[in-house]
Amino acid sequence: MDMGGTNFRVCKVTLHGTDGKYEITQMDKRIPDALKSGSSEDLWLYIAECMQSFVDRRFISSAELPETPLAFTFSFPVTQTSVSNGVLQRWTKGFDIDGVEGHDVVTEVQNVLHQKVLLHSLFMYDPFSPLFKGLPVQIVALVNDTTGTLIASSYVDKKIKIGSIFGTGSNAAYMERCSKISNLSRYRLPDDAVMAINCEYGAFDNNRQVLPFTEYDIEIDRTSPRPGQQCYEKLVAGLYLGEIFRQVLVEIHHNGGVLFRKQDMSQLRKPYVLDSSFLAAMEADKTENLHACNTLFRGVLSISASVHELRLCHDIARLIALRSARLYACGIAAIMKKKSFDSCHVAVDGSVFSKYSSFPERVMAALREIMEWPADTNDRVRLVPAVDGSSVGAAVIAAMITRPVRTKGW
Ligand code: BGC
Repeated sequence: MDMGGTNFRVCKVTLHGTDGKYEITQMDKRIPDALKSGSSEDLWLYIAECMQSFVDRRFISSAELPETPLAFTFSFPVTQTSVSNGVLQRWTKGFDIDGVEGHDVVTEVQNVLHQKVLLHSLFMYDPFSPLFKGLPVQIVALVNDTTGTLIASSYVDKKIKIGSIFGTGSNAAYMERCSKISNLSRYRLPDDAVMAINCEYGAFDNNRQVLPFTEYDIEIDRTSPRPGQQCYEKLVAGLYLGEIFRQVLVEIHHNGGVLFRKQDMSQLRKPYVLDSSFLAAMEADKTENLHACNTLFRGVLSISASVHELRLCHDIARLIALRSARLYACGIAAIMKKKSFDSCHVAVDGSVFSKYSSFPERVMAALREIMEWPADTNDRVRLVPAVDGSSVGAAVIAAMITRPVRTKGW
């Protein structure tokens, strides 16, 4: 199961072994907005129902379920004392559900999956009846999406050293020797033991000492469900790019009225009405008169913009996206510097990376600057689109837990 910021995915993964081959059957559902600020019971029940519908559609049989180790990719910051539990530190990406922060999400989800079995067993126990719904699955691993991406991609590409997400949220993971992790110094671990580090660097600079925040960033933070949290992420990630853009346009309209004079601003006044795909579509319009942008403004915002106005909006979108790409590159560069990686592949998953065509090149340009690679050398980093997201990585982790193997080569 994979719960990201936007979608929930259930998939069955069959791993073929060390040749890096696998089969995947998956089912994606968009998480309804109402669930992101509803009750935890409703959210967990939704997850259980998606699992149930995966079984109903015969992607996996009920008979296979008890034998199949289940990994749960949960793309939020958790405190983990074992691979199969995790206490949610705080919701991010606009989620705001009471009573989960400070609790073990594995226990909560597992309970709902089992309760479902219990309820159905009590009231309609008949294993041959189509009404019998049972989910006798056991969550064996809780995995962050960055860790899943790292493991999935390194299953097929041995040069991968960093797994990263550049989508609704932003974050990265890498492998570290346990002997270098001060929190682990009290455990006697073998010298060559390694552990995945989920950086959670979306929370970088939460006390706003380093990054240059604009008034729009401060407003986005102030009006978010968790002010003062994920401050770096709020400058970079897809969830916020459209909203930054919207706020800038509304401000220009108000101050001096040079933009959208006498236009109906009611759509543009709605917070989060634009997502990063709006900016991506604008930037993809390379025509002189910005025809596609014009259609977008009419269609999504009911605004008829002049070519001059569209050019200004186009420039603003470019600046916001450029800032995001350059700041995203800082996170990757930070890991490379910390680990003294001279060259590597970085697996990247997420909608901004895969759907915003100018992003990868902008990130690379920023990396060249930060890492100060000589102009005449080849790039020492390759950003590689992640293989089937984090789900395959979660499956590899589940397989390693049920049949432990030694990790080599990190
Ligand atoms: C979460 C991370 C996650 C990232 C990308 C952030 O909001 O805190 O755990 O990896 O989003 O999904």
